Amino acid sequence: MARVFPLLASQIIIFFLFSFSNQSYGYATTLDKNFFRLKEEKLSHFRLYWHDIYSGSNPTAVAVVAAPQKNSSTLFGAISMIDDPLTEGPELSSKLVGKAQGFYASAARDENGLMMVMNFAFMEGKYNGSTISVLGRNKVFSPMREMPVIGGSGLFRFARGYVEARTHKFDATTGDATVEYNIYLNIFFIFSFFFIIFISGEAHGFAKALDEKLFGLNEEKFTHLRLFWHDILSGTSPTAVQVVPPVANSSTAFGLMNMIDDPLTEGPELSSKMLGRAQGFYAAASQQEVGLLMAMNFAFIKGKYNGSTFTVLGRNTVFSKVREMPVIGGTGVFRFARGYVQAKTYKFDQNSGDATVEYNCYVLHY
Ligand SMILES: *[C@@H]1O[C@H](CO)[C@@H](O)[C@H](O)[C@H]1NC(C)=O
Ligand SMILES: *[C@@H]1O[C@H](CO)[C@@H](O)[C@H](O)[C@H]1NC(C)=O
Repeated sequence: MARVFPLLASQIIIFFLFSFSNQSYGYATTLDKNFFRLKEEKLSHFRLYWHDIYSGSNPTAVAVVAAPQKNSSTLFGAISMIDDPLTEGPELSSKLVGKAQGFYASAARDENGLMMVMNFAFMEGKYNGSTISVLGRNKVFSPMREMPVIGGSGLFRFARGYVEARTHKFDATTGDATVEYNIYLNIFFIFSFFFIIFISGEAHGFAKALDEKLFGLNEEKFTHLRLFWHDILSGTSPTAVQVVPPVANSSTAFGLMNMIDDPLTEGPELSSKMLGRAQGFYAAASQQEVGLLMAMNFAFIKGKYNGSTFTVLGRNTVFSKVREMPVIGGTGVFRFARGYVQAKTYKFDQNSGDATVEYNCYVLHY
């Protein structure tokens, strides 16, 4: 008995330690990070080729929403759904490593700029069943386009990073394209059996580990940006166009989807200094109140942020005083960005629907 007691006591202590780190609030429980071996992140690199095929009898990309303005040279508002093969080499006949599934939308009025929303579903070897999610801005005629990786599953759990896309081949007649994707991911370096998996990954054809210091992933910076977002539905040159109508008889416009290429300015007036554009879409996703799903890339054109983007994906109950939405990724200066934005309506015209919204953005990035 005397020997059992200390054992029991230590178990009670362990139990208490656990119950402290595993606090439960109904459906949510706080977990111990170390227990899940989420200790050290490691940067790794993958290279693969993405094949977008419109032509032939087995297209992998199909147009699902047409551009609402017939005279738009950029097909502003058009959406294509894709199930594109990802291969190890540039030839479609080379080894299939996965599929890129999702959609892209023309979210720019005056340039060829797509919003890409895709999951890369890997099907090869140890990565079979793992996925990463890419959501970003793709100016398809630029030699190199960077887009954020905003998350992952399986071996890519908690992944953050970015991809670099370079067109390898493009057929202007059919629209078919082969694009080289270089993927840079920060993945948790997980000990025990995953350790072995990761190390063997270094030698794997399309994957290798990298030195983070070379990539400047040392210390995160915290940046606040204040800007004004202009959503213009009226006039002959709207920056927001309806691409999917709402369902009938909905007081909240449930189902509506608008594509946007909204100016971002320094001050509340549209004539103030242009800082960039918010490209993407919003959709009415609430039946009880006006609540939008927002998916936008803030693309900056001024100063040190010129060419950099960050991505906002969140819920916007537009008639609330302050709406908060997550920043889920970024490119350029904003690589690996995380954060949030707070949106406050500055001006709203009930008749036209035109709105000016103040955005305060709080972003952690490298
Ligand atoms: C990948 O996993 C699926 C489902 O578990 C399996 O059917 C398929 O054969 C696997 N593919 C490869 C190449 O290992
Ligand atoms: C497109 O057509 C509308 C009228 O149908 C016109 O007001 C607008 O200026 C045109 N836009 C472009 C880019 O040509």
